[in-house]
Amino acid sequence: MRGLHRHFFEGRGLDRVAIGAVRGNDRSEAVARRLGYRPEAVLRHALLVGDDPGDLAFYGLLRSEWAADGGGGRDPLPLPRFALRVDDELELGLLERADADALHALIERNRERLARWLPWAESQTLEGTRGFIEGRALAAIAQADGFEIGVWWRGRLVGMVGIHAVRRHPRRGSIGYWLAAEAEGHGLMARAVRAVVAKGFDDLGFERLDIRADVDNARSRALPERLGFRHEGVLRRAFFDGRRYADQAVYGLLSDEWSSRVTPRGQRVA
Ligand SMILES: CC(C)(COP(=O)(O)OP(=O)(O)OC[C@H]1O[C@@H](n2cnc3c(N)ncnc32)[C@H](O)[C@@H]1OP(=O)(O)O)[C@@H](O)C(=O)NCCC(=O)NCCS
Repeated sequence: MRGLHRHFFEGRGLDRVAIGAVRGNDRSEAVARRLGYRPEAVLRHALLVGDDPGDLAFYGLLRSEWAADGGGGRDPLPLPRFALRVDDELELGLLERADADALHALIERNRERLARWLPWAESQTLEGTRGFIEGRALAAIAQADGFEIGVWWRGRLVGMVGIHAVRRHPRRGSIGYWLAAEAEGHGLMARAVRAVVAKGFDDLGFERLDIRADVDNARSRALPERLGFRHEGVLRRAFFDGRRYADQAVYGLLSDEWSSRVTPRGQRVA
């Protein structure tokens, strides 16, 4: 309901939302009260309950009351959207066009440290960020070509995670990720990637997921190691960042390793 309130008041610009409950349906009336709706009127004999005339109780919520109560601020995400809740403070959500400014501001604040490992960050413009959301993040969902989703921590967008380079036979893809500096060091990306892996294997039918990182990117490499991916080797000169070739460490996880939660080396999959 709280997500719906945002949809009605912010998305559709309504000034008032009402709930009509059959008088005597205590549970339904209790929900309205709990959500902060005010009792407004009881319309007598306004409907039939079985064969008998029944009363209809109206509860109303005005936009000003909703806003004064925090505008649904207890919901972590700023807008209703398709989201995967990982835990109390972490959500993974589909990016929408309206997220372009927030995503771009995040990239700008972190440009230097991201560009060290993700060359696109060096020259990313607001237009480029919009193009990414519309041309890649939303298109990927439509075309079942992996996904790129935002990471929201305590209601703030703090990074991205996704599956790209999807191939069909066998179904496989690579997981990519980045976090803002202030969100590093809390185990957030490990939790987010674990949720992505679960989604990929349990719902999306992937046979194999891998993570590829510059051999020198110790923080990134620590993540698949922490989650029990198997280090499969180093692809030499596999990545050109515009200035130099880099060697890429590859970490893989197979669907049956995920199902059994144990890798071939007996390592526990987190
Ligand atoms: C790669 C990146 C996402 C890793 O972020 P991260 O926060 O270190 O990743 P994790 O979510 O695995 O968190 C691990 C850290 O949280 C700490 N942590 C705290 N609570 C934790 C928990 N419950 N579980 C796991 N780790 C936890 C760990 O100790 C570790 O911190 P430390 O290395 O300082 O000891 C981040 O460094 C980044 O965005 N780098 C720049 C972009 C980049 O390189 N992207 C990858 C390209 S391949």
